This record gives sequence, C-alpha cells and structure tokens, in this order.
Amino acid sequence: MLRRYQTHVITVDPVQPEERQLQPAVEALLAGELVAFPTETVYGLGADATNQDAVRRIFSVKGRPSDNPLIVHVVSFDQLIPLTRSIPDMARQLFEAFSPGPVTLVMERTDLVPDIVTAHLNTVAVRIPAHPVARSLIQCAGIAVAAPSANRSGRPSPTHAWHVKQDLDGLIPYIIDGGPSQFGLESTVIDTTGTRPVILRPGSITADQIFWATGLHPVTEQYKTGQTTGLLDFETSPPKAPGMKYRHYAPRAAVLIARCETDPDDSPPMNRIAGECLDQGKRVGLFASLRTLRELTIPWTLIADASSPDPVSSRSDLHRNEAIAFAYGPDRDPISASQHLFDAMRLLDNEAVDVLIAEQLPDHDIGTAYMNRLRKAARQETQSSDSEEKQETACKHRKQVVFVCTGNTCRSPMAERLFNAEMTEGSWIASSAGLAALTDSPASPQAIRVLSERYQLDSSGHRSRQLTTEIADTADLLVPMTLYQKQLIQRQFPDISHKVFTLGEAAGQPQADISDPFGGDMEQYDLAAQEIHRLVIQMIKQIDRIAGSSQQTSP
Ligand code: TXA
Ligand code: MG
Repeated sequence: MLRRYQTHVITVDPVQPEERQLQPAVEALLAGELVAFPTETVYGLGADATNQDAVRRIFSVKGRPSDNPLIVHVVSFDQLIPLTRSIPDMARQLFEAFSPGPVTLVMERTDLVPDIVTAHLNTVAVRIPAHPVARSLIQCAGIAVAAPSANRSGRPSPTHAWHVKQDLDGLIPYIIDGGPSQFGLESTVIDTTGTRPVILRPGSITADQIFWATGLHPVTEQYKTGQTTGLLDFETSPPKAPGMKYRHYAPRAAVLIARCETDPDDSPPMNRIAGECLDQGKRVGLFASLRTLRELTIPWTLIADASSPDPVSSRSDLHRNEAIAFAYGPDRDPISASQHLFDAMRLLDNEAVDVLIAEQLPDHDIGTAYMNRLRKAARQETQSSDSEEKQETACKHRKQVVFVCTGNTCRSPMAERLFNAEMTEGSWIASSAGLAALTDSPASPQAIRVLSERYQLDSSGHRSRQLTTEIADTADLLVPMTLYQKQLIQRQFPDISHKVFTLGEAAGQPQADISDPFGGDMEQYDLAAQEIHRLVIQMIKQIDRIAGSSQQTSP
C-alpha cells in the first residue's frame, strides 16, 4: 500500500538556499524517502540512487512503468566517475560545454547503479543540474540522486511547486519550493555510447549548440509520425530512450496544434479551429503569444499573461462563447513558449477546458523541443498504439481495473488490451498482473499473435508483474479469469475482497471461467481471446454499476 504523508512544502531562496532549511529534506533522502526539488528544467522527484527500495517507491508514487529508466543527478565529475564504466571523450566534451546544465548523458554503467534505476539497461543517464537548490540538496546529502520529473506518469512535468503538490500531495514527505523552473522543458538526453552523440530527447540544448560548442555532429532520433523510419525501427528494436515511447505531457483536455494566421504552414489556423470548437459549445483554451492572440477575431479573455508581472484580473465576466487564453509572452518565441507550456496545460485544465489549442512554432533549434512535447500531448507522436501509453495516462481521474491471471503473460494481458481498445470513452483504464508471475516477461508469442492478427492490437511491449498489495490497493476493480483465482486473491488480500469479481461475474455471466490456453495450439489461444473479448464488452456495459456495488459492500 502507498504510504500516506503530511506533505511539507519547504520554501527556499532559489539563488542562495539556506542549508539549515534543506536539512529535513536531506535527512529524508538519506533515510530512503522521496523529496521533490526544483531544477532549472522541471521539478524532480528524488531518491537515493543506490537505495533500491527508495527508487522502487519513485515508480509506485508516479505510477511509472518499470521499463522507463531514471536519470541520476550528481554535482561533480568526481561523483560521476564511480557510476560509469568509462567516460567517452565525447561525453567529456559535452559535460565541459554544458554542465552543470540542462543536459543528460547516457553512458555505460557500473554495478554501483542498481538495475531498478536503469530498467536493466547496461547504460545509465547522468545529469549535473545547475539549479542552486538541486545542487545544495545533493551536495548536503552527499549521494547521487535518481530523479524523474515529479509528476504523476502521463501528466505534464511540473514547473512550479504547486504542480508537484497537485500530483503528489500526501504521497511524499517534502516538496522544496524554489520558484518556477527556468527552462520549463526537460533536459536534452544524449546517448554517448556510440561513435556520434545521439539526441534521444530534444531539450533546450540544441543540436546546433552542440556543434558550435564541441564540433560534434549529433544525430537525432526522430519520433515524429511518418517523418522518418524511427517509428518502424521501434517495431523491431526497443527505443533508445525508453520513456519517449510513452504518451507524455498530457493535460486532460484534447490538445490541438494550430498556426498563427500569417504563417504559411500546413496546420490549420488557430482562429478557424477555435471558432469551430466554440460553435460546438466546447470550452476552449488557447496557448499563444499575445501577438498571435491579437490577430484572432474570435472572442477570448486572458487567464494568464507571462509577459506581465501583474496577475490577470478576475474573469467573472467570462462569456460562454469566449476562449480562455494563456499568453506565454508578447511575441512568437520558442524559449518563452517552452518555459510556460506545462504551466498552461495545468492552468487550463483547472479551468476545465475541453480543448487546448496551442501555437505551432518553427520546428528547429529550441522550437524542436517545444514541438516535440506538443506533438506528444496532441497524440500525433506516439510510438505504440497499444494500451501501454494509455496506462501511462492513468492518472487520478481514471478508474483502474486490474485483470489477473496466473503468470500475467497470456489471459490477463489479452483482457487488458481488449478492455483498453473497447473502452473508448476513457473513464476506466486497465492494467494486468499475475498471482505467480515472473517479473518483466513478455506476453506469450501466441497471445501477441492472436491480439495482433485478430484485433490489430500490439502487445509486444507487455511485461509481466506480480500482483502486490500496492497494486491491489490502488485498483478500483480486480478481475481474475477464474473463480479459483478470485478465491486466492481474496485469501491473500482480505481487505479488498469486495473489489474482486471474476471476468464472468463482471460480465453478468458468473459461470464463465476462462481456462488457461497454455500448452494448447493457436486455435485454443484464439478461442480464449474471443471469449475474453466477448466478456470484456459485456463487462464494460455495466462496469460503473459493478464498481458502485463493490463500494457499497466495502468495509
Ligand atoms: O530535465 C530533466 O531531465 C528532468 C529533471 C528532473 O532532471 N528529469 C526527467 O526525467 O525528465 P524523466 O524520468 O521524466 O525522463 C528521463 C528520460 C526518459 O525518457 C528515459 O527513458 C531516459 O531519460 N533515460 C533514462 N535513462 C536512460 C538510459 N540509460 N538510456 C536511455 N534513455 C534513458
Ligand atoms: Mg518525465
């Protein structure tokens, strides 16, 4: 079960933080607890990188898939040396040019870095942050700090302490508030294990800057739909930065990308899309420069103006037919747009907009990172269309059903994917687990084939996991394949037995047990998949009623 905390926010001077103020957070880190802290890119959720239990907690608190490795943060070259097998020349050059700063280098790792940090890769990603608060925290603790962005998985990265609080309140003991992040997008991740630097994730350090500072010519892993073979490569080989395959940075609202009126480009102009959405009665949020906003003829009103120090006055006079606008700056400028994008996503979500229309900017230099995050949020750029990415967006507002079988390699992953494919309206999200599962095994080849051939669903990314108390506690419903499995779950987790229904029961057909096709031929797998599919469709029709009844009977 996830531990609950009274989350303390420690507000410090971002330029000269007092060590005395940081002390409770330092002690928490050393005791294996998690601490959220500011960096110049986004806020990080830190744990002692050599403490496996502490790192494991990062994954559960974030709801992060375990195949997505973490960045290790250090303050000096000396601290970095023991973590890496060797430091390639190009890594040295890159560190010299850009560290401390918003750049992360992937290098071969030593055994000092636990597998859980690197998701079993033989490389580790290391960053030397520049933010005085991050540096002071790491320095005082005297340890390497593993830290992903401090958001729930799938949500926009936090650029203010309140963003962290919004996602992680009660789940961690300390948030250090060091004011807004300077860059607002995550660091540039560069693989230095090959012959040339490869940019795995674009950030504020651009390919051109790398060339001018070091003479090195970086290659960019492309993740834009249809633009390169990157997408096809992914089908056969794992992505270089595993995190890039997931849908990220997503507000609850649908994100659309639009160009300003005068820009000749292929995306539709903001005025037209916003007008159409308003006509359909949608609540519309806009993220653009003031210049772009002033070119619009549709009505809009400001919720925030990043170019002005004064807060925007009350919007009590907002008309139903007006868009709500976040101005990131006076003029079209990717640096300001990057700085405020994630903040705008959260603010506009708080205003319950249905669509967020964001300004397209030229896709080069720092604009590359901005457009990369925007496309991901707009779902134009996802690596896998299966439920993994949906799983990543399983944040607070979605209810969770966990399908359970024995090994979590066949029946339950099939149910998970079929459920997520059929659950079009999005209030529920499925995952799966096993009662006697090995960790990180793929789905069985037969299950992968049936799902792909019969349903065009890709389950190649599935990795098995054991049903734990934590998973059982956070699920809204647990759905095993057979009555016997239901009894086992109820015996093992008596506190949550009211949330357990067999797939047959959940579908209103209590007799239906899905037996294990293991060892059978393809036809048996095919039949099992069809039966699961049929029951899942029935289950979806009444899922809210079942969940309601489980709540009524809960202790
Ligand atoms: O700016 C940042 O980088 C922030 C701050 C807190 O430092 N951190 C951050 O972490 O964005 P996270 O976990 O949200 O993203 C880390 C990215 C993921 O895409 C992950 O797949 C990639 O780095 N990564 C980590 N270790 C890797 C490795 N060994 N090889 C390739 N990619 C790796
Ligand atoms: Mg992140």
